Formats: sequence, C-alpha cells, structure tokens
Amino acid sequence: MFADRVLSGMRPTGNLHLGHYHGVLKNWVEMQHQYECLFFVADWHALTTHYDSPQIIEQNVWDMVIDWLAAGVDPSQATLFIQSRVPEHAELNLLLSMITPLGWLERVPTYKDQQEKLTSKDLTTYGFLGYPLLMSADILIYRSTKVPVGEDQVPHLEFTRELARRFNHMYGREPGFEEKAEAAVKKLGGKKAKLYIELRTRFQQQGDGEALESAKSLLDEQQSLSLGDRERLFGYLEGGGKMILSEPQAMLTAASKMPGLDGQKMSKSYGNTISLREDEVEVGKKIKTMPTDPARIRRTDTGNPDKCPVWQLHLVYSSEDTKQWVQKGCRSAGIGCIECKQPVIAAVLEEQKPMRERAQLYLDDPSLVRNIIADGCEKARKLAGETMRDVREAMGLGYS
Ligand code: TRP
Ligand code: SF4
Repeated sequence: MFADRVLSGMRPTGNLHLGHYHGVLKNWVEMQHQYECLFFVADWHALTTHYDSPQIIEQNVWDMVIDWLAAGVDPSQATLFIQSRVPEHAELNLLLSMITPLGWLERVPTYKDQQEKLTSKDLTTYGFLGYPLLMSADILIYRSTKVPVGEDQVPHLEFTRELARRFNHMYGREPGFEEKAEAAVKKLGGKKAKLYIELRTRFQQQGDGEALESAKSLLDEQQSLSLGDRERLFGYLEGGGKMILSEPQAMLTAASKMPGLDGQKMSKSYGNTISLREDEVEVGKKIKTMPTDPARIRRTDTGNPDKCPVWQLHLVYSSEDTKQWVQKGCRSAGIGCIECKQPVIAAVLEEQKPMRERAQLYLDDPSLVRNIIADGCEKARKLAGETMRDVREAMGLGYS
C-alpha cells in the first residue's frame, strides 16, 4: 500500500514530441516506481477547446497512449485510463458545480489568458469556463494526494484545494460521525487505540500540538485502515467532521528545457519539434537542416556554439568529451557543421530506439492497448465509485 496517490492527465490534442518526453513523461516513468500512479487521457478537457474538431481528439487518444507506453510508462505499475470512460468524473463535476461560485471560475487566470490567446476559437462557453472544475473532479474523485503539473496548472490545483475545503466544510459531518469514528478507533487495536485516545485528549484538552503530530504519524503508519476510516480518524482528532474530499498537493514538473530545432523551447506552436517516434530518416533530415551560428557561412569561418541551436542539443545529449570536441572544433573551424551534427543525430536515434521498439509491439497488435485501457478504466471506476458513494451520501442523495 502506498501512502500517496499520484494522478495526472494529458489532453490528446496533438502528437507528443521529445519535449514532452524530457519534461513530463520521464517524470511519470520515475514516479510509477515510487507511488501509486494513475495517468489518464483528458479527452473531455480536450473538447473544451476542440469541440469543433473532435476528429483530432479521436486520432490522438490511442497514439498518445502508445507514446506513453513507448516512453516506458508501465501498465503493470501505473493505472492508465481515459477520462470519458469513467463517467463518475462527470457526476462529481456536476455535484461540485452546485457549490462552485461563478466568481472563483472567472478569476482563474487561464480562463481569460486562453481566451485572449486562442482568438480563433470561441471560448465563451460553459464548458471552457468549467475547465478547472472538471479538473478538480478528476483529482478529487481519486482522493489524489499528489498531482504533477506544469507551472501553468498551479492555479487549478489551488482552486481544487479550495473547493475540497468548501465541500468538507458544507457536508463533512456525515450522519453518525461520532459512532463511526469510535468504531474506527476500535479497529486500531487495543494498544494503538488507547494511545490514539490519549493523544487526542491531550490535544483537545490541553492544545498539545506535539500530541496531535504524534497521533497523525500513528495514523500514517496504519496500513490496513480503509480510506474512509482513515479520514474519520483524522477528522475526529481535530474535532472536525470527516474529510470527505482530501486536498491534493501540486508537484511542480520542472519546465521542459528541451530545446527545439531552432533553439527556442521545443513546442508544437513553434513548429520546431521532433516527435517521440519520428521516422529515423526524418530525424536525420530535421537535424541536418537545423540552422547554425549565422556568422558561420563558409566551412572556413570560425563559429560560436553559444549562438548555435545545435549546441543546445549537445548540452542535452553529449558527453563531456564530445562537448569539448564541439567547442574546440567550432571555434577553430576545425570541424564542419554537418560533422558537428552527427553525434546529435546518433544520440536522438539512440534515445528513440527503445521507444520505437516498445511502440512496435502495440502497433502490431492494437488489442494490447485496448486491453490495457479497459483494465485501467475498470480499476479507475472502482476507485471513483467509492468516493462517489460518500459524496452522494454527504449531499443527501444516498436514498435507500
Ligand atoms: N489541465 C491539464 C493540462 O492541460 C490536464 C489535466 C486535466 C489534468 N485533468 C487533470 C492534469 C488532472 C492533472 C490532474 O495539462
Ligand atoms: Fe553550431 Fe556545431 Fe556548426 Fe558550431 S560547428 S556552428 S556548434 S553546428
């Protein structure tokens, strides 16, 4: 059992490239060994901006999952699923919408920013305004504790935490809370139950902060508690109700420093990308036609790597020896640019090789990918269903 649950989503709006690999995907691959991880295709989120071109989304969903697998995301470690196949997200989105003040949504900075940036699209829609709310539902429905996101998404995480707090405040006192909490204490077992009660009393009667911390770490160590009981016991400690929705923390993914073919950051909108599984011949062509130090016109001109986008790629891919060879050779006109690019081409192909091989498996047998996603969706729905039971009950919808 992991103490933390990581959730992250990606919108299927385009081809993944090496910038995504060096930024997000490597990070996912690392985290899958450290945490319980859920990764999903945010196809509904893609529709908020691409509602007029759904074919783009359809095309990219499966390609994107293959890219994840190619990059080393391992379905035996992480749960992979598609948002729209877990309709509980929509139900939570709807229920949370009842308590979401319009002003909170209007004030999220991405709302106005994106409307101003994507002027070719009409984003004055209810769906687009609700983007952060849907994202909150994605996160809260799994009681995720850690959410890896880029800097631009941090306001959405803050929004999510505020919404969770509001929800807990409004609905946190489940009927029979005291009895349920007391029953949960018993489940801790004699000694630990006694210690828990002692610590709780010390905190509640004497305001002893250390006792509170000790009690919390005692709970953290209990592996066999159900999530519901865990939260009851945390709530019972501090005298509040049950925390039905838990507040997630953002894990900031360092902004990708991966340079593109022109020296700017690699990005679809700059048209300077190498895609994750780009055809080998195409990789060679793209790098061979990269611009170099503009002052180096003839082979006999000396150059300055600091003014050359190819050098940026050497910084990512090359050994110290190779980098010294570039520095010396470029500044003395000892090497030509074509020569200088060879090790970069080789390194990119080398990096992509295992990705191409892993992808081939799935391209040869698409049913493998379908099955991975079907399994993931089933697991996700089970987890989501547990939260929804609590949420419905808390909101007075638990009719029996
Ligand atoms: N909004 C995120 C992005 O554009 C994608 C996303 C949707 C997401 N739901 C999420 C990320 C939940 C993390 C958690 O990058
Ligand atoms: Fe750039 Fe290399 Fe040519 Fe120098 S030798 S200008 S670093 S490509």
